[in-house]
This record gives sequence, C-alpha cells and structure tokens, in this order.
Amino acid sequence: MSELLIQLTDVGKSYQQGATELEVLQQINLQIYRGESVAIVGQSGSGKSTLLSIIGLLENLGVGRYLLCGQDVTTLSGYQLSLLRNRHLGWVFQNFNLVPELTIAANVALPLRYNPNYQKKDYRALVDAKLAVVGLTDKAESYPGQLSGGQQQRVAIARALVTNPDILLCDEPTGNLDSTNSENIIKLLLELNQQGTTVLLVTHDPALAARCSRTIQISDGRISDVVPGTRLSAVRMSDVS
Ligand SMILES: Nc1ncnc2c1ncn2[C@@H]1O[C@H](COP(=O)(O)OP(=O)(O)OP(=O)(O)O)[C@@H](O)[C@H]1O
Ligand SMILES: [Mg+2]
Repeated sequence: MSELLIQLTDVGKSYQQGATELEVLQQINLQIYRGESVAIVGQSGSGKSTLLSIIGLLENLGVGRYLLCGQDVTTLSGYQLSLLRNRHLGWVFQNFNLVPELTIAANVALPLRYNPNYQKKDYRALVDAKLAVVGLTDKAESYPGQLSGGQQQRVAIARALVTNPDILLCDEPTGNLDSTNSENIIKLLLELNQQGTTVLLVTHDPALAARCSRTIQISDGRISDVVPGTRLSAVRMSDVS
C-alpha cells in the first residue's frame, strides 16, 4: 500500500466575525497517499482555499488532528513548521506570486534559501534543472513582467519543484490563464504526477478535476462527496476509502 502523506482527522476551522464565529470547515476527514492527484472542487466560499492552506501549513487548524508525512503539526513550533513546509510542500497560486524585481532564476531559487540542506554553490544547477522541466531554460535571466501568464505559472511550478517536494499544492493554478495555457499547465502538472509527485489542486474546472485520480467535493465547509477520476493512480480506491 502506498505511503500516507496527509491525514486529517475531524479537522475544523472557524473565523471570528464580530461577535459571531464563522465555521468555515467542519469534520474534515481526509487521507492523501503518495502518487495521487486529487482535485478539490466546490462553490465559491465553500472552504477550498482554507482547506488547502491548512494542509499547506499556511493556516493553523482550529480543531482536530493533522499528520503531514507522519508528523503531528500541532506539536511543532513556527520554525519547525517552516522546515516541514519547505521539505515536503511546493505551492502554486492562481496569481503566480513571483517577485517582480528578481530574475526568473532568482525567483526559482527562493525556496532553496530557506532550506539548510542546500548550499549556495548548488543553487544554479538545481534552478536550471527545474527550468528545463518546465521548458523555460531560455528565460532564466528575464524578469516576470517580460513573460506571459502561462510562462509565469510555469516559473511558479519550477519554484515549487526546486526542493523536490513530496506534494504540490495548487490553488486554482489555471484560474488566470486562457484555454491554451491552461491545458499546458494541466498537462505539466499531470506529467509531474505521473513521474511521482503527489498533486493536490483546487479547481473550478470539472474537466481538470475529472483527469485527476480523485475529486473531493466541498460544500459549506464539509466533504460532501468523493468521486474517482479517470486518471490511473498509484493508489487503488479500496486503499483510500
Ligand atoms: N482570514 C479570514 N477571515 C475571515 N473569514 C475568512 C478568512 N478566510 C476565509 N474566510 C471565509 O471562509 C469562507 C471560505 O473561504 P475560502 O477562501 O476557503 O473559499 P473558497 O472555497 O476557496 O472560495 P473561492 O472559490 O471563491 O476561492 C468564506 O466565507 C470566507 O469569507
Ligand atoms: Mg479559493
């Protein structure tokens, strides 16, 4: 059986809104295994980004238990969480989040600077390897503003990959792209998945969700449905449920 990477047990999250508490996530139970590609779908405001942010260690969980690669995240300090995040997770956002005044190569190198396992002398080779993966070797010395949206998202994917994370977390990775660029990004993400990276993505695109190995539907902060996708997965559904 495949390795369990993410395990959420009875996770809930609420935000204080004036005098009232807004329950954004309730009783989330979710396991994600190495090799899966999982789409999270649901209406706007249903809690998808909040769930991804908790999984990505950008938000604290309110209640419940979260094991990331076997580590109980609630027991860790901020510094330990940042190490865990850097070691296991790569983030891709809808709006690319590149630093405009840094070159493409310097943008891709950013996660290396926060990881004590990498030495500065090795940065360039690691960056070049990932720029080759996303097909942007010739843009290393350009700046984000000189690239198209689709190219910028490929840079963001190279940056997410540079530390060889176990899991890629993508929040609407094609949300700002036209259909051609979206298709290229989807193909790239699914190729990376085929090569072994676990992919967890939030999307409004049912066609993209169907190409993943599993779709998790969120409604009003709860998991309302889990649907197998068309993609062959390293994990049998009987292992997951
Ligand atoms: N920091 C916050 N403080 C207060 N409320 C928040 C905060 N972040 C999110 N929310 C609320 O939590 C709910 C879920 O938000 P979330 O961003 O997870 O939705 P989503 O499913 O990603 O929506 P979309 O598809 O529009 O991106 C919304 O009602 C939102 O207003
Ligand atoms: Mg969102």
